[in-house]
Amino acid sequence: MLEDEEVMKIELSEPKPEDGLAVNQLVAENPPLDPNSLYCNLLQTTHFAKTGIAAWHENRLVGFVSGYIKPEQPDTYFLWQVVVGEAARGQGLAKRMIQAIFERTTLANVKWLETTITPDNQASQRLFLSLAQAWEAEVNTSVLFDKQKHFGGQHNSEELYRIGPIAL
Ligand SMILES: CC(C)(COP(=O)(O)OP(=O)(O)OC[C@H]1O[C@@H](n2cnc3c(N)ncnc32)[C@H](O)[C@@H]1OP(=O)(O)O)[C@@H](O)C(=O)NCCC(=O)NCCS
Repeated sequence: MLEDEEVMKIELSEPKPEDGLAVNQLVAENPPLDPNSLYCNLLQTTHFAKTGIAAWHENRLVGFVSGYIKPEQPDTYFLWQVVVGEAARGQGLAKRMIQAIFERTTLANVKWLETTITPDNQASQRLFLSLAQAWEAEVNTSVLFDKQKHFGGQHNSEELYRIGPIAL
């Protein structure tokens, strides 16, 4: 963790359609995230803006979270991707962005967070376990998309983390 005076001044905002291109570039620059089509990121910054968040430092996009409320399960927020550019890591930004989404009125009836993580992504595992701890919530894991069955052996299994109930 950085000392206070070293923490970057970062502003969080609801994404705008014009942010889609910067999101596309930030995701592409930060493996192991799967890069998306620009069209996909434009949908995230328009139709899914209320469930996404952008982090800006000196007019540069340094963080982004995409997600949606599950259509058949309105008490569950599915977090699609979280990304923080290398220079902005290690100061609690990913955690702050996700907590800020959960404070929105759009999520007033949401009690669960779901996301998937590959078994080798320790940073992401730590991030979600830390959130669960802060919320005093349980974490259940299971395989959502299997390496062989769903990815034809071309991608690691994606393990589902279901966190909750979340009472803010
Ligand atoms: C994963 C990622 C979003 C974390 O961003 P970040 O802003 O640095 O994370 P935070 O500072 O909010 O850290 C949250 C917690 O995770 C822990 N953590 C973060 N990165 C870590 C790492 N590389 N190794 C171990 N723990 C880590 C922190 O110590 C912190 O724990 P604490 O609250 O108990 O102190 C960032 O590393 C990233 O964008 N990685 C590439 C893309 C990716 O893998 N995204 C997730 C899959 S969708």
